[in-house]
Amino acid sequence: MKLRIFARISPLALVSAIVLTLCSLSDCYDPMDPNGNITVTFDTYKWTTDGYMARVTIQNYHQYRHIEKPGWKLGWTWARDEVIWSMSGAFAAQQGNCSSFKFQIPHSCKKNPVILDLIPDASPENRSEDCCHGGLLSAWAIDPSKSFSSFEIQVGNLEGSSTGHAPLNLTLMAPGPGYTCGPLVDTDPTVSSDIGGRREVQVFRTWKSTCIYSSFLANKAPVCCVSLSTFYNPRITSCPTCSCGCKDAGPNTSFCISEGTALPQSDALSDTDVVQCTNHNCPVRVHWHLKNNYLDHWRVKLTVSNYNYKRNYSSWNVLVQHPGFGQSVITYSFNSSILPTVGLEGDC
Ligand SMILES: *[C@@H]1O[C@H](CO)[C@@H](O)[C@H](O)[C@H]1NC(C)=O
Ligand SMILES: *[C@@H]1O[C@H](CO)[C@@H](O)[C@H](O)[C@H]1NC(C)=O
Ligand SMILES: *[C@@H]1O[C@H](CO)[C@@H](O)[C@H](O)[C@H]1NC(C)=O
Ligand SMILES: *[C@@H]1O[C@H](CO)[C@@H](O)[C@H](O)[C@H]1NC(C)=O
Ligand SMILES: *[C@@H]1O[C@H](CO)[C@@H](O)[C@H](O)[C@H]1NC(C)=O
Ligand SMILES: *[C@@H]1O[C@H](CO)[C@@H](O)[C@H](O)[C@H]1NC(C)=O
Ligand SMILES: *[C@@H]1O[C@H](CO)[C@@H](O)[C@H](O)[C@H]1NC(C)=O
Repeated sequence: MKLRIFARISPLALVSAIVLTLCSLSDCYDPMDPNGNITVTFDTYKWTTDGYMARVTIQNYHQYRHIEKPGWKLGWTWARDEVIWSMSGAFAAQQGNCSSFKFQIPHSCKKNPVILDLIPDASPENRSEDCCHGGLLSAWAIDPSKSFSSFEIQVGNLEGSSTGHAPLNLTLMAPGPGYTCGPLVDTDPTVSSDIGGRREVQVFRTWKSTCIYSSFLANKAPVCCVSLSTFYNPRITSCPTCSCGCKDAGPNTSFCISEGTALPQSDALSDTDVVQCTNHNCPVRVHWHLKNNYLDHWRVKLTVSNYNYKRNYSSWNVLVQHPGFGQSVITYSFNSSILPTVGLEGDC
């Protein structure tokens, strides 16, 4: 029988490079969360003279995949000549060409707006309900209350009596690539409760899209590796050489610098990870050390090392799949829980 243990520490304040840190954006986990997705919902709750008001909600249904700094970016293409008159709880990255508007100036006239989250201390007039997390979303299993974010938009410039068309080609960066979003489809209107749960109210119309993560789209090379050691053997089984690419393997692997070297200040590197050069070249290493083996239990020390100079992880989790976790498992200095078995093999 296989069970997975799942441990976390949060919030752990900024940790400098090469200390216990995380493995969050990795290939390792997906088979263990086959239903994980991010759902984007457009709830139209009011008609206006030339369009509608909608609440857009981004819900992270991944069991353990956070959305980290610098946070999500949501984009789409308008089906017609829609504009965003105003927004609260988020903002459009570009205003675009609004030169044909004489009196009121829209918030954004872009045909394909990109929406960014506001920071938590955004001013009250720019806020909406459940907004403003700086683009960060927790994983569903870890903190459901922080796994979603909403913003409100007033959409206008619809011609005639049209009630609007669902936006096309939804894109989600969370933060980098990796997500593919399906079309926004009409679904049952979202229902919520009112009067202390004694009355149900519903929005006028709901469009929903599901975005699926692929580690192949997100990362050209793996982002973590596992090394092993035991108390009875002085040899360490280190991460295989070039697990995450090699120093000289060309442009597709992380740029690496030797330990102690100053971080290069080149613009060309602003979007790429810079890792410490190691034999494995992985941004994150998980080390599994079997400390001792008693008659009825064994003890393991798990060390997670961050070799990525571009990332400080403030909240992270590790998933472990191992035979024998059916027995009771106790973790120290971590919070852990046993995940339900998913019936899929596959390890880091
Ligand atoms: C572990 O969980 C307990 C109870 O859920 C919580 O109070 C504590 O803050 C958690 N600790 C960490 C490090 O997350
Ligand atoms: C997205 O995740 C939710 C929660 O696990 C699930 O109910 C829903 O069916 C998933 N959607 C798709 C399209 O897989
Ligand atoms: C802005 O849009 C107007 C009409 O919609 C167009 O005439 C003008 O050329 C556009 N300006 C630019 C810089 O694209
Ligand atoms: C906040 O609201 C004010 C007034 O409504 C607006 O001028 C400003 O651009 C908004 N700021 C952001 C970041 O949306
Ligand atoms: C949406 O994406 C598809 C495929 O990438 C493209 O063919 C189509 O032109 C796009 N539609 C719009 C309105 O941008
Ligand atoms: C590197 O990535 C580019 C596209 O990003 C791809 O065309 C190329 O084949 C890749 N090279 C290797 C060696 O993987
Ligand atoms: C990470 O934290 C260390 C120590 O607080 C700091 O020196 C470093 O600039 C931070 N790096 C990033 C990428 O935030």
